[in-house]
Amino acid sequence: MKILSIETSCDETAISILETKNNLRYRGDVSFRVLANNVASQVKIHAPYGGVYPMLAKREHIKNLPILLGKVLKKVKIIVRQDLTTKPVDLIAVTSGPGLEPALWAGIVFAKELAKKWSCPLVPVNHMEGHILSVFGKQKGKFIIQKIKFPTIALLISGGHTELVLVKENMNYKVIGETLDDAAGEAFDKVARMLGLPYPGGPEISRLAEKIRTRTSLNALAQEYPASQRHHSQKHISSVENPGIGKQRSQGFGFSLSLPRPMLHTKNFDFSFSGLKTAVLYLIKKIGKLDEKIKAKIAMEFENAVIETLIHKTQKAVEKYKIKTLIVAGGVSANKYLRKEIKKNIKIKILFPEKGLATDNSIMIGIAGYLQYIKNKGKVKRIRNIKATGNLRL
Ligand code: KG4
Ligand code: ZN
Repeated sequence: MKILSIETSCDETAISILETKNNLRYRGDVSFRVLANNVASQVKIHAPYGGVYPMLAKREHIKNLPILLGKVLKKVKIIVRQDLTTKPVDLIAVTSGPGLEPALWAGIVFAKELAKKWSCPLVPVNHMEGHILSVFGKQKGKFIIQKIKFPTIALLISGGHTELVLVKENMNYKVIGETLDDAAGEAFDKVARMLGLPYPGGPEISRLAEKIRTRTSLNALAQEYPASQRHHSQKHISSVENPGIGKQRSQGFGFSLSLPRPMLHTKNFDFSFSGLKTAVLYLIKKIGKLDEKIKAKIAMEFENAVIETLIHKTQKAVEKYKIKTLIVAGGVSANKYLRKEIKKNIKIKILFPEKGLATDNSIMIGIAGYLQYIKNKGKVKRIRNIKATGNLRL
C-alpha cells in the first residue's frame, strides 16, 4: 500500500510517499519504506516578519503543493494516467489541525481534489499525533513502528504547543499539562527577536548558547571576574526559583543575568513561558547596549531556564504515572542541549525524532494517517466532512 501524505499546518510545505506491506493487517510491527520525501521551507519568506504570516503561508503552500507532488511522483516513477485506470497511491493523509487555518486549508483542499480524482480514501491527521509518531520515522529507507512499553508520556514542544500527553495503548491520548500562554518554541522565537537574531529563533539561541557554554566554564568565569568583585557588585534582576541545570551562572556584568524558572513548584503539569520572555525583555532594557558576549549569555541563561522547567515537570509526570517510555518531539526537541540534559536527568527509555523529523514534516503525517486508517479498519470520513481546525486537540 502506498500512502501520500501532505503537511501544510505552518510554514513548511511537505509531501511524502511511504509504502507499507502491512495493508490493513495490524499484527505486530508495522514497517514502512520512504519512497519519496520533499519539504519546501518558507523560512526565508517569513523571516522579515519575525514569525509566520498566515495568508502568506497559504499562498506559498498553494504555489508549492503541485510542484512538490510532481517531484515525489517523479521520484517514485509514478505516471499519473489521464484515464485514471490506475490509482497512483492507495491512501492520502493530510494534516487537518492544529495549525494556522488558512495554511491548513491549502493542504486540505489540495488533498481533497486528489482523493476525488484518484477515488482514494483520505484521512485527516492531527499534527500533534504526527509529532508523537515522528520518533519512529526516518527520512530515507525503511523503518518500523517499534513496540514500546506503556505507560508512555510525550513531551511535545513546538512553535505552537507545549504539552505533556499521556499516551495509552491503541493510540489514545490524554493531555495532562500544557502551556497557559506561549509555547516553548514561541518563547525561543520571541527572545531571539529581542536579541536581534533571525527567525526561527530556536536554532539561533541554541547556537549562541552552545558557543558560550563550551567556551566558558564556571572556573573560567571565576578567573575573569574574581568572586570578591562579583559579590560586591551583584544585583539580582529577577529571582531564580531553583537553579539547577546550567550551573554556569551568567555573572560578571555588575548584576546577575539569572532568569526565573516559571511554575516550577506548581502541583500540576502546566507550563508558562510568557513571564520568562518578559523577564528577558526587562533584562535587555536594564543592560542597554548588548554586545555579542552578553547576547550569548542571555541566550544560554534563557535556554537553561526553559530546559530546566521542561525537565522538572516531565520528571514529575514520569514519577506520578510510573512512566516506562518518554517521547520527546516537536521542533524544540531538535535542541541538542535539551536532549543531553533530558537523558542525563530522566533515567527511563527516551525516544527522540531523528534529525530532520523534529520540525514539521510529512513523514510523520503519513505514519499517523496510516495507523489511524488501520485502527478504524479502513473506515474513513466523507471527503466533504474533512475540514481545517486551527485548535484541534488530541
Ligand atoms: O514543530 P515545529 O517545526 O512547528 C510547529 O508545529 O510549531 O516547531 C518549530 C519551533 C520553532 O519555534 C523553532 O524556533 C523551534 O521549533 N526550534 C528550536 C530548535 N529548532 C527548532 N527550538 C530550540 N532549539 C532548536 N534547536
Ligand atoms: Zn509541528
